Amino acid sequence: MSFDSLGLAPALLRALAEYGYTQPTPIQAAAIPAVLEGHDLLAAAQTGTGKTAAFALPLLQKLSTSGQTMTRRPRALILTPTRELAAQIHENMRDYGKHIHVSATTIFGGVGMGPQINALRRGVDVVIATPGRLIDHMQQRTLDLSAVETLILDEADRMLDMGFLPALKRILQSVPKRRQTLLFSATFAPAIKTLAMEFMHSPKEISVSAPNTVTTLVSHQVHPVDASRKRDLLLHVLSQDSRRQSLVFSRTKHGADKLVTFLNASGLRAAAIHGNKSQNARTRALSDFKSGRVTVMVATDIAARGIDIEQLPIVINFDLPSVAEDYVHRIGRTGRAGMEGLALSLVSHDESGLLFDIRKLLKQDIAITPVAGYEPSAPLRLDAGAPRPKQGGGGQRQQQRAPRQGKPAGAARPSGYAPQGRGEHAAGNQRRRSNRRPAAKA
Ligand SMILES: Nc1ncnc2c1ncn2[C@@H]1O[C@H](COP(=O)(O)OP(=O)(O)OP(=O)(O)O)[C@@H](O)[C@H]1O
Ligand SMILES: [Mg+2]
Repeated sequence: MSFDSLGLAPALLRALAEYGYTQPTPIQAAAIPAVLEGHDLLAAAQTGTGKTAAFALPLLQKLSTSGQTMTRRPRALILTPTRELAAQIHENMRDYGKHIHVSATTIFGGVGMGPQINALRRGVDVVIATPGRLIDHMQQRTLDLSAVETLILDEADRMLDMGFLPALKRILQSVPKRRQTLLFSATFAPAIKTLAMEFMHSPKEISVSAPNTVTTLVSHQVHPVDASRKRDLLLHVLSQDSRRQSLVFSRTKHGADKLVTFLNASGLRAAAIHGNKSQNARTRALSDFKSGRVTVMVATDIAARGIDIEQLPIVINFDLPSVAEDYVHRIGRTGRAGMEGLALSLVSHDESGLLFDIRKLLKQDIAITPVAGYEPSAPLRLDAGAPRPKQGGGGQRQQQRAPRQGKPAGAARPSGYAPQGRGEHAAGNQRRRSNRRPAAKA
């Protein structure tokens, strides 16, 4: 299948060819025609399989071909959970839309309101926003959402969980009822799906793989270790190949800072990205990591969703996430666009229960391999009653989550953890990566 057969305009096809996309990924092949036909969509596809272009291309096409050029009000609104993801989607839209006249801007916190107000005053077709700052603009009447024809929630299940739901409900009241609504994510818990149905019009469900599954391009490994020795084991792992770009997830902001101090003192080039950092520091950490100026980025779950780091070979969970779905997103930063990747988790006895949850969600065994010299004093417990870290130690997100109903659905997965092929990403890594632009400017 080629992009030509999906009904996209020649100007978009030209940009894709220049960008090095030769064929659509499965989610793009399924979603692009459905969006062009005007359907509401609940679309699930694994991490790193091109969901951004699956909504951005048909959106650009619709905006460039259907009139209403007199309005200065935005005709499309894309919501994301983080500023970095909003900036990244903006960058993707600029690349895909370089030969058409569709304007877009980002609206997110941590940066001045002034330039955002100016951009909105000049008039834009697409607003890509995080909910908090968007509501600030709505309150100050610097943004009018009454002309929105298309509403897109990227990382939709996150946008619908308890942390964002109140903001989302307010935004929904300000956009027209008659609109197209598109939801994209790699994971959809059943309760979230039910909630989503309430504000969509007979949506089409598109799922190009079994729900909540993790990309087969990633192999998983667990190193059991005592909590007190995790830092040293991390250093040991990172030192094996100090030039390798490694994304390390920490459950808390404070923990991330402490790790960075430790790693820098040990001679590695590390930077932290989390919600207590200034937007400047966040943007710099990500761009330094993307450019290779720092080799280790220690992140909280702020970097778990959607962020696309070219050819990232490894994700390390210094702490396991308290919500199993977050594991899928975290480790999905590697194994993207047809490349293989490694997900390594350092797991202490008190996190055994979280590992149990993850294995249950993935329906997959994960190899547990102790590292010589770092063997834990007690083995991990892998049963439902296994211990979990006490809440309050940074698992704040869990309390914000919508209650989950029933078990997450998932196809039976083969056991073992070896990579199982490259089937998920039709386009593979054939695209000319040299065409790509430098790291995102926020
Ligand atoms: N048709 C294609 N051919 C080649 N590469 C592609 C194609 N579509 C997307 N890509 C590349 O694949 C990578 C992942 O795309 P994208 O960020 O849209 O994934 P995603 O499905 O949104 O993942 P996540 O669930 O993590 O947000 C990007 O680097 C993108 O440029
Ligand atoms: Mg994405």
